[in-house]
Amino acid sequence: MIYFDNSATTKPHEEVIESYQTVSENYYGNPSSQHQLGYDADKLLRKAYEQAANMLGVSNQEIIFTSGGTESNNLAIKGIALRYQKHGKHLVTTTIEHPSVLEAFKALETLGFEVTYVPVDASGIVKLEAIKRAVREDTILVSVMHINNELGTIQPVQAIGEFLAPKKYTFFHVDHVQGYGKVELDITRARIDMLSLSGHKIHGLKGTGLLYLKENVQLFPLFHGGGQQGNLRSGTENIAGIVSLVKAMRMVSEQQMHHPNHLHELKAHLISRLSSLKQVVINTPEDAAPHIINFSVPGYKPEVIVHALEERRIFVSTKSACASKSPDESAVLKAINLPANRTKSALRISFSYQNSEGEIELFYRALQKILRDLSQVMG
Ligand SMILES: Cc1ncc(COP(=O)(O)O)c(C=O)c1O
Repeated sequence: MIYFDNSATTKPHEEVIESYQTVSENYYGNPSSQHQLGYDADKLLRKAYEQAANMLGVSNQEIIFTSGGTESNNLAIKGIALRYQKHGKHLVTTTIEHPSVLEAFKALETLGFEVTYVPVDASGIVKLEAIKRAVREDTILVSVMHINNELGTIQPVQAIGEFLAPKKYTFFHVDHVQGYGKVELDITRARIDMLSLSGHKIHGLKGTGLLYLKENVQLFPLFHGGGQQGNLRSGTENIAGIVSLVKAMRMVSEQQMHHPNHLHELKAHLISRLSSLKQVVINTPEDAAPHIINFSVPGYKPEVIVHALEERRIFVSTKSACASKSPDESAVLKAINLPANRTKSALRISFSYQNSEGEIELFYRALQKILRDLSQVMG
C-alpha cells in the first residue's frame, strides 16, 4: 500500500498507540482527585504540559490541550471575538483558510462581527500589504494559516506577526495544523498570540490537539464547567490522548531534525516525474511546503484517477471536499483564479516522513498507465 494522503490524516505511530494504552491502563485517575491515583495522573499531565511547552519554546501555562485543530481554531477565534468585543468588532482572515477557521468567522458574522476576508495572490499567498490594508483601529483579531492544506503555500506569518505586535488589542492567530514538524515556525519570533495544532496530522491520534495561548491574552471559553485548564477548557483532561499527542510531537520533531531534506527530496522527485506527463499541470508553487503537491489533469475527473489509483492500493486525495460550495471544485484553487478545467480536476499528494522515493516511482508508473488507458478510452 502507498499512502499519499497525509494532509487528510496520518497513520498513528505504534509508539503513540502504546503510550495511549499504557496511560489509559495505569493513569486513569482524575487529575483533580485528592488521592494517589489523582496525584499520579496530575503529575503526568504536568509533565505533558512541560514537554509540549518545551518543544514549542513557550511556557507551560501557555498550552491548552484540545480535541484537535477544529477545536483549537474555534477556541482561538470565537474566544478572542467574544472576550475582546468591547475593543472592536472587526476581524481579519484570508480566503484560503480551512473551514474550521472560515466557518467560525461566518458564525461570528451572524453575531454582529464584521469580517474582512483578504484575498491571496495568484500563487496562493496573502501579501503583508493586503493584511496591512485590511487592519483597522477596531480590528481585534487576524487569523492566517501557516501552510495551506490544499496547495502547500507558506504564508508570511512572521511578517504579519511583526506588523501586528505593537497593536495591543489586535491579536494574531495562526493555524499551524499542516506545518508542524515540516516547516519551521518560531512562535515567539513570529509574535504569535495563538497557534493551533492537531495530533492526527503528525501520526498522533484523532481527537487530540492543542492551542498555544500567549500569557496575558484572554479568551472567552467554548466549554464552561469544572474550570480545568485555567478555566479555558473545562472537562476532565484526556490524559492518555494528551500524552500520546506529546509523543507524536516529539517523534515528528526528531524526524524533522534528523531528516531535514527527506520531504524536499520526495517533492523534487515527484515534481520531476509529474512534469514529464503532458496531461499534468502542477498547481503548487515551487517555494511551497515540501509535503503537499497539488496538480490538475485538465479534462479528467479527479475521482476517476483517485479510484484507478486506489485499485492499485495507492491512496491520494482530490481537493478537500468540505472546503468548497461547489461539490466538484476546489475553493482554494478558485481563490487563486485558476480556470475551471484546473479547479475541477485537481489531485493532492501529501507526504509524511514515512514515504519513500520508491513509492513515488511506483505512483508515477501507475499514473502514467492510468492516463494512457484513459486517453485511449476517451479517443
Ligand atoms: C489547515 C487545517 N486546519 C485545521 C484542520 C482541522 O483539524 P482537525 O481535523 O484536527 O480538527 C485541518 C484538517 O484538515 C487543516 O488541514
